[in-house]
Amino acid sequence: MRSTSRETTTGNALRDEAVPSGGGVNEDANRADASRVTNKRDRDGDRRLLGVTGLKNYVQHGTKLMADEGEYGELELAKAGAKGVRVRQHVNPLTSRFQEQAPAPTWTDAFDDVTRALTIDVGCAGGRFDLLYAKRNPERNVLGVDIREPLVERGLSWGEASGVSGNVHFATCNATVSIGEWIKNYQSNGAEVELVTILHPDPHFKKRHRKRRIVQERLVRSLAEAMKPGTRVYLQSDVEELTEDMRDKFERYGEGCFDLDPELYDVDDVREKAAKAAEAPVEKTENDGEDDGWRSTWVHGGWLSENPIGTPSERELQTLGEGLPVFRVMLRRTENVANQ
Ligand SMILES: C[S@@+](CC[C@H](N)C(=O)[O-])C[C@H]1O[C@@H](n2cnc3c(N)ncnc32)[C@H](O)[C@@H]1O
Repeated sequence: MRSTSRETTTGNALRDEAVPSGGGVNEDANRADASRVTNKRDRDGDRRLLGVTGLKNYVQHGTKLMADEGEYGELELAKAGAKGVRVRQHVNPLTSRFQEQAPAPTWTDAFDDVTRALTIDVGCAGGRFDLLYAKRNPERNVLGVDIREPLVERGLSWGEASGVSGNVHFATCNATVSIGEWIKNYQSNGAEVELVTILHPDPHFKKRHRKRRIVQERLVRSLAEAMKPGTRVYLQSDVEELTEDMRDKFERYGEGCFDLDPELYDVDDVREKAAKAAEAPVEKTENDGEDDGWRSTWVHGGWLSENPIGTPSERELQTLGEGLPVFRVMLRRTENVANQ
């Protein structure tokens, strides 16, 4: 496993914060969404930054994640002397350097065995999820992707430190732009990308920043084109509005290439409920007159109550630890041919 990062964050200011003692993390991209703690909105609909209590919880959470006990304990990162990293809080994916297709990793350098099915975790941040998922699933390869290069470098070093490296790799790119081609590239040697996870991506609440969200029409279309029938996309967030937005974009722009995973949902029942709802008069919505008449069918499937992949993400643990809900959707690539 070695770095294949090609996009640098050189020139970007680092966040001026101390790494919490015990090597806890301070890398999280979007503390603003931790308004789950303050739960206040300002007039623009944006969220306020963490208050003092939220910050304290956050630092404690980082220290806990690094401890050799609890969910990530089996990685033994503290014992290996793994350290946190200081990174820029935000990277703007719309800048020109992130709009270019990044070259795919050299798979033979990344993994011991490139014939294994691959899981791609988009927006991997701390990387502990990827390391643990790889450790628990030695028959699979796992690629953690993040737009912030220091996190990718750290993921690589933590892989070495925790002895999980033959089937896990980290790489930098703007996933919205590059991931479809990376999937095709991996599959070009006959192996399959079986699962793409998008876990707790940055919510970018401000209307003018919504285009910075990872899940855009472009990403959905590229996944529809690249992924094989039967493979899965797993969406999860602690922000309901964001999970709805991701789910709706897959339903809308996937044009029949994705459906709720029939192993986890009663899809006939979902369609029946959607048909009934379509007969009812449309309720007035508070959407600034932007309603174009599109209605979700998948909304009638509700949220999955449990994580179906068996390994929690860092943000998921933090959220559940605070007694807050997590919103989950599993999709499956259908047999439909994607519109190019
Ligand atoms: C809140 S963190 C995700 C946390 C992690 N997945 C979890 O569940 O614990 C969101 C991550 O997405 C990354 N990110 C944002 N936009 C991205 C993009 N376009 N491509 C790749 N990564 C992106 C950020 O750098 C950040 O590390």
